[in-house]
Amino acid sequence: MSESRATPLLGVDDASRARAVEILRTGGLVAFPTETVYGLGADATSPRAVARIYAAKGRPSFNPLIAHVADLSAARREARLGARALRLAEAFWPGPLTLVAPAALEGSVCELARAGLASVALRIPAHPAALALLRAFGGPLAAPSANVSGHVSPVTAAHVAEDLAGRVDLILDGGRARAGLESTIVSFLGDTPALLRPGAIAREEIEAVLGTRLGEARGDVVAPGMTSAHYAPRARLRLDAQWLEPGEAGLDFGGALGDDGLVLDLSPGGDLIEAAANLFAYLRELDAHGAARVAVAPIPAHGLGEAIRDRLRRAAS
Ligand code: TXA
Ligand code: MG
Repeated sequence: MSESRATPLLGVDDASRARAVEILRTGGLVAFPTETVYGLGADATSPRAVARIYAAKGRPSFNPLIAHVADLSAARREARLGARALRLAEAFWPGPLTLVAPAALEGSVCELARAGLASVALRIPAHPAALALLRAFGGPLAAPSANVSGHVSPVTAAHVAEDLAGRVDLILDGGRARAGLESTIVSFLGDTPALLRPGAIAREEIEAVLGTRLGEARGDVVAPGMTSAHYAPRARLRLDAQWLEPGEAGLDFGGALGDDGLVLDLSPGGDLIEAAANLFAYLRELDAHGAARVAVAPIPAHGLGEAIRDRLRRAAS
């Protein structure tokens, strides 16, 4: 990602789409229009690319992101969609509806995009430029709203540029987003479908298709770390460790803990984006090695470090 403020802003045509695909394939960030709000897109299968989304938005924690897909068969490769979820998909896709369902075993959306959850959020957007981009890219795109964390969601390319110029590699201008309101999110993780986020499709419309009332979101799903389905390491973590105690494995950062025994370094060069990209994979790897106790090196609290530290605190408790 360039450090300059000069992010190209291009209209949507074959040439700009080809450029966007090239950027996405090499792990870059492309802001693109959808029918709800502009999305900040990255290859959803690449933790490195997804880490850059969190860095660009300046998010203090790893929220799970929506994976945008081109068609229903792609959605069904990523999640286990039951009969009721499929009925909503048929009624509202492409469109401003996001379905949260158990991630498929063979799914390709990376764990960082799911914030470590065993579920995945999917949607097929209705904007022609978004669909064309997804088809050309050929895989899922993680895309939260294209604004800095805490700002309002952008409905024009100019809004995106105000927030993210210099932090994204390309902005595709497809005019004003029609809905101006994010997608409605429905969870299929519990016994009954639940409304996680009200949005561009009214609850009543969804209930009419389902033939039942939507339940309310409980603690089950919304925030990562609040659910039993959330990945928690078996190992006990000791945070901000300065050295390895006897018998401890290590989760290092910038080579602080040395390499005596089983030590995985999130980023030997001290790069927080690289560290975020490796976090979930390394926690799993330490578990796979049977590590019972893990010393975790101090992670700086700035940039993505805040989210990494937040996630580690949850994993340690
Ligand atoms: O309209 C939209 O949905 C826009 C456009 C760009 O498509 N996207 C959007 O994405 O709003 P985002 O990443 O800001 O919304 C993500 C929200 C999370 O905050 C969370 O509430 C929910 O989706 N979510 C995602 N994955 C989830 C999961 N596995 N379980 C529960 N909630 C999840
Ligand atoms: Mg948002």
